[in-house]
Amino acid sequence: MRIGPHRLQNNLILAPMAGVTDKPFRALCRRLGAGLAVSEMISANSSLWGTSKSVRRLDHAGEPGPISVQILGADPVTMAEAARINVARGAQIIDINMGCPAKKVCKVAAGSALLRDEPLIGRILAAIVEAVDVPVTLKIRTGWDRDSRNAVRVARIAEESGIQALAVHGRTRACGFSGLAEYETIQEVKGSVTIPVIANGDIDSPEKAQSVMAFTGADGLMIGRAAQGRPWIFREISQYLATGARLPPPSPEWIRDLLLEHHALMLDFHGERQGVRIARKHIAWYSKTFPGGNHFRGRINQSESICEQRDLICGFFDRLSYQGVLAA
Ligand SMILES: Cc1cc2nc3c(=O)[nH]c(=O)nc-3n(C[C@H](O)[C@H](O)[C@H](O)COP(=O)(O)O)c2cc1C
Repeated sequence: MRIGPHRLQNNLILAPMAGVTDKPFRALCRRLGAGLAVSEMISANSSLWGTSKSVRRLDHAGEPGPISVQILGADPVTMAEAARINVARGAQIIDINMGCPAKKVCKVAAGSALLRDEPLIGRILAAIVEAVDVPVTLKIRTGWDRDSRNAVRVARIAEESGIQALAVHGRTRACGFSGLAEYETIQEVKGSVTIPVIANGDIDSPEKAQSVMAFTGADGLMIGRAAQGRPWIFREISQYLATGARLPPPSPEWIRDLLLEHHALMLDFHGERQGVRIARKHIAWYSKTFPGGNHFRGRINQSESICEQRDLICGFFDRLSYQGVLAA
């Protein structure tokens, strides 16, 4: 798949997830088979960029390209300026968030709230495309609610504005994360535009990936929650799409070593105090499909130090290895 001048290694993309897809996690997913990993969203309002959280979100030093940075906002001028600054800091793709359903985001008419104002969508996209000389991509939901699904019209606006790829999460804003994603609208979008369309929502296995790809005709797939604690899902899907055969499940020792590496990267990137807190949820996700995971998660959620977390990780996965348990 191509996004402007960038030819991706494959058409599997790690979805942007605030609080999850930090630089260490993106690096791991890229290494384990994701063709692109979109950054966590950053507000277009640069006066908010001084916090330590934003400083880390804006840090792309040493990341494998193409570096895709997602911007959230509601004002064409501010968003264009934010795009320009991010390109100056190394962004090679600018992604626009028109999918976030969070109340505090929609209250300021950003994220998925923009789907209710098609003329404004056109103005925002045109301003950003005009402002930067890197490809601009867009991520949307299928509409504001079920009675106003307008993804096809938004896709046409995007194409006319010069957007170079469009990711569609198969839910409306009103759906939040409930129910199942629907792929009919994504199929319709794919049939309505010529830019690459990326299908997103509930893709959690190689088989599901193949069926979503076949049903929607999408050019690429975007995977979010299923990659949490399972960054190797990208190579599993990639292998299955290429050969129709599943890779053997990884051994507990392999997962232990990967998680220890991920843990070290998180602590290095976030520092010890923040890193130990942020690591808790990631460590817990790695255990979710294994027997004894509930008890392990309880202990990880109470953990206070790097050593304690490393000991818990080794204890949990070494026991699984001794028992001969494999990942689901
Ligand atoms: C914790 C979390 C944070 C998210 N943050 C963002 C974000 O920053 N930008 C965005 O466009 N979507 C965000 N999303 C939505 C995902 O990118 C994706 O569209 C959604 O999770 C559906 O895909 P999935 O079923 O593969 O998880 C977030 C989702 C989750 C679960």
